[in-house]
Amino acid sequence: MLKHEINDLYSAEEQIIDALPAMIEKARDRKLKKALQDHLKVTETQKRRLDEIQKRLELEPARKGFLSALFAKKCKGMQGLIEEGEKVMSEEMDPDVMDAAIVGCAQKIEHYEICGYGTARAYAEELGLSAVEKALKTSLDEEYKSDDLLTELAVRRLNKEATPRGSRVVNQRNIQGNKRRKGSRIKSTSSTPKKNSSSRTTRKKSVAR
Ligand SMILES: [Fe+2]
Repeated sequence: MLKHEINDLYSAEEQIIDALPAMIEKARDRKLKKALQDHLKVTETQKRRLDEIQKRLELEPARKGFLSALFAKKCKGMQGLIEEGEKVMSEEMDPDVMDAAIVGCAQKIEHYEICGYGTARAYAEELGLSAVEKALKTSLDEEYKSDDLLTELAVRRLNKEATPRGSRVVNQRNIQGNKRRKGSRIKSTSSTPKKNSSSRTTRKKSVAR
């Protein structure tokens, strides 16, 4: 399952690298453009990090045919999120509204990645693969940072500019994101396994050996 998550994330990062230039092109706000450009560089580093992890994990070959249905070439989850984003960006709308919409699309992508990295990190931790766990945590922290920056951009400026004066229409999702306090970050359900079941952790470690 760890290998499957790594493959899925690798495909997701590849698709994001292909999709980001169009989002950068479409964004009008200078800070949003810069945030997306910076994220493209971060994504390229994350892809290289996954490459290293893949090499490490291949030292332990998977059983032939084991979970083969999960090892599809392309991450369909990310494909869908990107297609949804492209659909939104193909619409005619005020540039301020487009910026707010781009943030919304980018955050859906970020949240998918946060879930994937959180889960993969938890698996690596349970398997006692500390170097892999550390690398995955680095990427996870970068995803959180990008997500927080997008929330800040949206709530501080972009959503206000996209909302007609006097209107009560607001982007609820971004406001909820802004209210997220430290320690209540988005986590996959399996990101903190040790807190809940230490005996399960011990058993899995012994199986992995
Ligand atoms: Fe990423």
